[in-house]
Amino acid sequence: MNTPNSEIVLPLPDDFHAHLRQGELMPGYVRDLVSQFGRAIIMPNTVPAMTSAAAIADYKKQILEAAAPVRPDFEPLMTFKLNPNYTEQDLKDMMAVGVVAGKYYPAGVTTNSADGISDFEAVFPVVAMMEKLGLVLCVHGEEPGEFCLDREPAFIKRVETLAEKFPKLRIVFEHLSSAKSVEAVKRLPANVAATFTVHHLMMTLDDIVGDALRPHHFCKPLPKRPEDRKAIREAAFSGNPKFFLGTDSAPHQQGKKECPCGAAGVYSAPVAIPLLVQEFERAGALDKLPNFIAGFGADFYGLPRTTKQIKVVKEKWTVPAIVNGVVPLAAGQTLEWKLK
Ligand code: DOR
Ligand code: ZN
Repeated sequence: MNTPNSEIVLPLPDDFHAHLRQGELMPGYVRDLVSQFGRAIIMPNTVPAMTSAAAIADYKKQILEAAAPVRPDFEPLMTFKLNPNYTEQDLKDMMAVGVVAGKYYPAGVTTNSADGISDFEAVFPVVAMMEKLGLVLCVHGEEPGEFCLDREPAFIKRVETLAEKFPKLRIVFEHLSSAKSVEAVKRLPANVAATFTVHHLMMTLDDIVGDALRPHHFCKPLPKRPEDRKAIREAAFSGNPKFFLGTDSAPHQQGKKECPCGAAGVYSAPVAIPLLVQEFERAGALDKLPNFIAGFGADFYGLPRTTKQIKVVKEKWTVPAIVNGVVPLAAGQTLEWKLK
């Protein structure tokens, strides 16, 4: 992987959790994503939400058109928003247009989730169909109504129930933010895996409200205590195949973040890979990076591992203050590694 210390060749990364929105802003967000990734799980919390084969097929087409000038071979891995009303035929129709997973949003816990799930058991019949058809269940694991820092730990019992009731269902506990959920995923059977974001590897709650209010770091689930970040970092750097990258890159226009009731989401797509190289290098874990960004996730989803590569060079550059109207993660900072 390593050539004379100033250049690293990596497999072309997969992002197992990305938000691209819709409408006129979407093509710019797509270009930022595909500049670093060859495949991505595209989240369905658009407005309106992705709940039908026709809407998803149209969305996928628009994404491919936007990606074409930068990466014509980009593969969007489509998802639908879970609700109790799907028939098995609905699921089959969505699979036929490229859907690989359904996303469980508990009602009201994050951006565009007011229409999420409020009755846990009501979705079991659809989840059983997903298990039978081989669809992955992606879970935003936060329990509505709990104190904000306790929402994720309070949801672990639900992931345990799903894993027990549906032993053949592949479950991804998304964007882990607590030591307790890292421990739970390690303990649970092999059908349960988890994604880590770049920002949860790097931040604690101090980076959002510690010394000043930093709205561009505000996201769900909230980054938590230093010991939580430590557990996430150790798991990411350990080479355990249950843990892989899902950036949860979530663009919100600057004005939607810098206002009295700001939206949750960190825009990491423009900087994800340089920041990961930096963090893995500092931890002495560069040898674990290829599987984290382009191995374990593909294996879990049953996708072929990529044969494509990217090059990262040791060259200082300054992250722009704004990208496509969004203040990105590490805006204005000088980074050591640059994508070639
Ligand atoms: O911070 C977040 N933003 N967390 C999510 O779960 C959703 C995302 C978004 O769509 O903006
Ligand atoms: Zn997300």
